Amino acid sequence: MKILITGGAGFIGSHVVRLFVNKYKNYKIYNLDLLTYAGNLENLKDVENNPNYQFIKGDINDSDFINSIFKTYQFDAVIHLAAESHVDRSITDPLSFVRTNIFGTVNLLNAAKEIWKNNYSSKLFYHISTDEVYGTLGDTGLFTETTSYDPNSPYSASKASSDHFVRAYGETYNLPYVITNCSNNYGANQFPEKLIPLFINNIINNKELPVYGDGNYTRDWLYVADHAIAIDFVFHEGKRNETYNIGGFNEWKNIDLIKLLCQQMDNKLNRPKGTSEKLIKFVKDRPGHDLRYAIDASKIKNSLGWGPSVTFEEGLKLTIDWYLSNSEWLDNVTSGNYQKYYSIQYGHN
Ligand code: NAD
Ligand code: DAU
Repeated sequence: MKILITGGAGFIGSHVVRLFVNKYKNYKIYNLDLLTYAGNLENLKDVENNPNYQFIKGDINDSDFINSIFKTYQFDAVIHLAAESHVDRSITDPLSFVRTNIFGTVNLLNAAKEIWKNNYSSKLFYHISTDEVYGTLGDTGLFTETTSYDPNSPYSASKASSDHFVRAYGETYNLPYVITNCSNNYGANQFPEKLIPLFINNIINNKELPVYGDGNYTRDWLYVADHAIAIDFVFHEGKRNETYNIGGFNEWKNIDLIKLLCQQMDNKLNRPKGTSEKLIKFVKDRPGHDLRYAIDASKIKNSLGWGPSVTFEEGLKLTIDWYLSNSEWLDNVTSGNYQKYYSIQYGHN
């Protein structure tokens, strides 16, 4: 089987590529990535020489290029992760999210449809999406697969739109697809613009921890390796033309998570208790900030037998250890354009 994984040099994509390359020696894994600020081939150093792995540099927004690689390689399946993924960036630059997340996805759908249209059997377009398409919850309730879409940020609106296109291609052209909507991931190789790696990096460097609003926002956190395993389950066992929610059964208010992170960082860095918490600074809230996400992952649990294997405390320890022992990776990704991004987003370096 020849599988195209898009966005494989990014955070989640690199964990998915590694899992598939190591586990399925008889598959050929093609990793298509533009290597934007978020894509980094360092993430895949350990698998880059495997005979069943090939990297293709390119842009999913370039339809001629996408059509040509489908013709050349005749992929049997696509696992589509390439996207602009950061909510704050979508607030300052919505159009780049429209381009990559919507147009880019439709380019891939068109190419897959053209190549597969005479024989859809055993073909699959697997679209990786987010719980943010469902909008926000109040203090109670969970997102299920039938919750109505109600996106609030340009990022989530672009992901919602791409989900709709994938379903529309299933209905209109019979393209076989699956969609998964996952909660917040954390773990090794996450770009330090997202909450957990940003705060780890700032604690290491004794910089302020910018907590949006009052910090009473809730997210459901899943260790990235468990997300990759869930993707493997759905890819192989998931029912075609269905959606599965993926979550960690693990809700945290931001401020509680940040305090736990501060405690663990003080331990690891041998700093007196309370040192990192002193860096907390409540700052201007994110516009349109969703109050709470929480996933009901019972469908994937009951029908495919998947569940998280790592507790949050364990996962957070593994994550902190990874960042502390990969300071070169962190230094590389935070040099150059990162400084510019940081000063625009947070007002100082
Ligand atoms: P990321 O930002 O770390 O990685 C995105 C990757 O896509 C990068 O390697 C980047 O170079 C590549 N890319 C961007 N634009 C491209 C283009 N035009 N052509 C080709 N490649 C391009 O993202 P992530 O956090 O790993 O998220 C991966 C996917 O999972 C996204 O679709 C995201 O919406 C979804 N998701 C993420 C989370 C999360 O918590 N991070 C949760 C649920 C769903
Ligand atoms: O829910 C899944 C989504 O999770 C994915 O689809 C997105 O790609 C991913 O970026 C993530 O989105 P969030 O907006 O939830 O993640 P982020 O790490 O940006 O923020 C997590 C929470 O922390 C959120 O309530 C905002 C808050 N926050 C974030 C940053 C970067 C802060 O308080 N301060 C910060 O500096």
